[in-house]
Amino acid sequence: MRFEPDLLRMNDGTAVKTAAQMEQRRQELLALLEEHAYGAFPAAVPVRGTIVNESARACSGDARLCDIEIACDFGKESFVFPVKLFLPNTNGKKPLLVLINFSKDPYCEYVPVEEIVDNGFALAYLYYGDITVDDGDFSKGAARFFPRTGSGRDPGKIGIWAWGVSRAVDYLETLEWVDEKRLALIGHSRLGKTALWCAANDMRFQYVCSNDSGCMGAAYRGTWHAGGETVSSIARVFPYWFCENFQKYKEAPGTAPFDQHLLLACIAPRKLLVNSAALDAWADPVSEQYACVGASPAWEAYGKRGYLGSEKPYGTDEGCLQGDIAYYKRRGVHFLGRRDWLNFMAFIG
Ligand code: GCU
Repeated sequence: MRFEPDLLRMNDGTAVKTAAQMEQRRQELLALLEEHAYGAFPAAVPVRGTIVNESARACSGDARLCDIEIACDFGKESFVFPVKLFLPNTNGKKPLLVLINFSKDPYCEYVPVEEIVDNGFALAYLYYGDITVDDGDFSKGAARFFPRTGSGRDPGKIGIWAWGVSRAVDYLETLEWVDEKRLALIGHSRLGKTALWCAANDMRFQYVCSNDSGCMGAAYRGTWHAGGETVSSIARVFPYWFCENFQKYKEAPGTAPFDQHLLLACIAPRKLLVNSAALDAWADPVSEQYACVGASPAWEAYGKRGYLGSEKPYGTDEGCLQGDIAYYKRRGVHFLGRRDWLNFMAFIG
């Protein structure tokens, strides 16, 4: 199958053959996605993290729960947001799963906290609304520190949530127990799109798990299936997730000079798991699988194992967790559930 645009063709027409060329191509792809989809990734600022509260009772006493405040320094003003950290009481380095989620409360239906801790993983929990609101108002939360310039490439909300995740990591990565080789980012749905865009830009994440991220996440549009979300629809209903330039593709989606295998390719050479749900036609599971096939050459160019799974659409509760880009389709609906987490943890190891 041919995937367009050609991942392994540099802007000047040169074919990508080496890891060094792939790294250059990765920079071109990030620039392309900034310009036409997500907007410029907001710049880092100095960050301070403070533990403001601590409890030893989390998970029946198997973990400490730390309430952390992340203060981002914008000169005269700071932007402060909370992160909740579950830290298992085990010795030595621990893998850290960073989750950006929809609920202020980590003890919600999407997060099996005890099971995560029982498996030896630390969990850093961010509520996306603490970074900025999920609407077209750019005067609230972190968004107000990134004034709109009218350039067409000002970050949308996905870019601002992603920036918040990276600022939390500025602090979290300084904690001496973090196993930086197993620093992972997880997000579901619009926050799966956010996780992909964040990790594409932030090389500290060694693992990324996108769950049901769909249109403008992991779904390749060149293989769109009936019932799936389209660029026209997402640009109309959620314009503020993206930069203004993205609006050009609302009427003419076929003219967009990028597709989602290029976003996945920006995660290479690190490890990526694309998780879908069989009954989630809106996120187009089959096209999520194809995006993995289409992105695989990026890993191969880096000398890594690419996608080792099937090219034929998987059935329910099937997939392939081997390879550096992996895909899994679980049974059930659009949801971030226990079985998704078991997959993430198996993938990260
Ligand atoms: C809507 C939207 C999707 C998004 C989802 C979510 O369904 O169309 O693109 O992924 O919300 O975030 O739950």
